[in-house]
Amino acid sequence: MNATSLAISIETLDANEAEAAVPALVEILRDSVADGASVGFMSWNTAADYERFWRDVAAGVAGGQVILLAARNEDGIVGTAQLHLIGKSNQPHRAEIAKVLVHSRARRQGIGEALMQRAEAIAREQGRDLLVLDTDEHGAARRLYNRLGWTEAGTIPRYALMPDGAECGSTFFYKSLV
Ligand SMILES: CC(C)(COP(=O)(O)OP(=O)(O)OC[C@H]1O[C@@H](n2cnc3c(N)ncnc32)[C@H](O)[C@@H]1OP(=O)(O)O)[C@@H](O)C(=O)NCCC(=O)NCCS
Repeated sequence: MNATSLAISIETLDANEAEAAVPALVEILRDSVADGASVGFMSWNTAADYERFWRDVAAGVAGGQVILLAARNEDGIVGTAQLHLIGKSNQPHRAEIAKVLVHSRARRQGIGEALMQRAEAIAREQGRDLLVLDTDEHGAARRLYNRLGWTEAGTIPRYALMPDGAECGSTFFYKSLV
C-alpha cells in the first residue's frame, strides 16, 4: 500500500449523508461517463439526470434496500459503490454490486479494490453470500473483478451502449462467499 492509498477511507453513507453527498456523486458519475464508461448513461445526459439518479439511490438507502459506499481522500469523495440487497422472498442470500466508480483523477491507487472488499465484507455481515454484477466487457473493471476472485458467467453481446452510442457487450460475474 502506498502513501496515497493509506489516506483513503471507505464510508457507509446513511440516507442523510447520501443526500449531502449528491453533488460529489454527480461529479464522479459525470466524470466516468465523460471518460467513456458504460454505466447506464449517454454522453447527452445532463447533471440533472445524474442528480435524479443519486437521489433515487439515497431513497433506496433510506428504504434499506441499498448500501451506499463512499471512498474519501483529502480531496473529498472520489469513489463509490453500491450493494443492492435483493428483496425477493426466494433470494434472501443474494446481493448485487452496482455503480463501482472512481474519479479518473484518483484511479489506479487501489480505491476500486478497497470499495469491492468493503462491499463484500458488508454482504457477509448482512448474510448475503451470493454476489452478482455485470460490467462492460472491455472496461478496466473486468480485470478488477477477475483479480478479486469473481467468476465470469458469460458475456452478452450488444447488451448496452457506450456513451457515444457504440454497442458493447456486458460480462456477468458472480462470487460465492460460502
Ligand atoms: C473500474 C474502476 C472502478 C477501478 O477503480 P480503481 O480505483 O482504478 O481500481 P484499482 O486501483 O483497485 O485497480 C485498477 C488498476 O490499478 C492498479 N493499481 C492499484 N493500486 C496501484 C498502485 N498503488 N500503483 C499502481 N497501480 C495500482 C491495479 O493493479 C489495477 O491494474 P489493472 O487495471 O491493470 O488490472 C475505475 O476504473 C472506474 O471507475 N472506471 C469507470 C467506471 C466503471 O466502468 N465502473 C465499473 C462499473 S461495473
